[in-house]
Amino acid sequence: MKSKQALANLLAVIFVYGFVAVACGQEKEPLSKLDQKVIKFLESRKSGWRDWNVPYEDGKVLHDIIVKNGYKSALEIGTSTGHSTIWMAWAMSKTGGKVITIEIDKNRHKIAVENIRKAGLSDFVDARLGDAHQLVKEVKGPFDFVFSDADKGWYVQYFKDVDPKLKVGGCFTAHNVLNTFAGAQDFLEFVKSLPNYETTIDRSSSSGISISYKKAESDF
Ligand SMILES: C[S@@+](CC[C@H](N)C(=O)[O-])C[C@H]1O[C@@H](n2cnc3c(N)ncnc32)[C@H](O)[C@@H]1O
Repeated sequence: MKSKQALANLLAVIFVYGFVAVACGQEKEPLSKLDQKVIKFLESRKSGWRDWNVPYEDGKVLHDIIVKNGYKSALEIGTSTGHSTIWMAWAMSKTGGKVITIEIDKNRHKIAVENIRKAGLSDFVDARLGDAHQLVKEVKGPFDFVFSDADKGWYVQYFKDVDPKLKVGGCFTAHNVLNTFAGAQDFLEFVKSLPNYETTIDRSSSSGISISYKKAESDF
């Protein structure tokens, strides 16, 4: 009888310990070599981006949306030297997807490719050099995630060109919607007026990211 009680007590202790361990996050998977490499790269460059790159916290927002939704096919408009690309590509390394990113400036494109390599994420990025006004029209979809961060005056047109290639359930994001760039404000008004998109604004940084989930096919 006594040994039965002892066994019951032991099982109770194991159960409680297991519950507390999970609750405290001790059961988390150890970080992969790639994760460690990316984290080291991002931390080392945290305040060293100088080419109109998104701030660290905005990169994390993009990463988290992709991982949360399991997105696998992303398009970025405006690579610059690759900060946001690296956050998106890191997310893709977790979901098994890939990012196509477009940049018009040869030097920034070259630096981006090198940064992506240094972060260990080349397998998850297709970096294209060219004018996005043309390439966005030509690029083959479908996409489930888009990040628009090039010339703000073209934001509405980029959206119209990408929309037929964006899957229902997918997400269109745009940077700097809290800034006073004329094009960004026009874009925000436009996208908020669409009944088949649900738009919110992330304010992790003062730039602001619009996040528009596509609920149904468009008829515009
Ligand atoms: C704000 S920066 C992008 C920052 C980048 N997303 C990051 O976080 O690292 C905008 C970039 O878009 C590029 N750009 C502007 N107009 C473009 C166009 N028509 N086609 C392709 N890239 C363009 C610029 O050369 C610039 O490097």
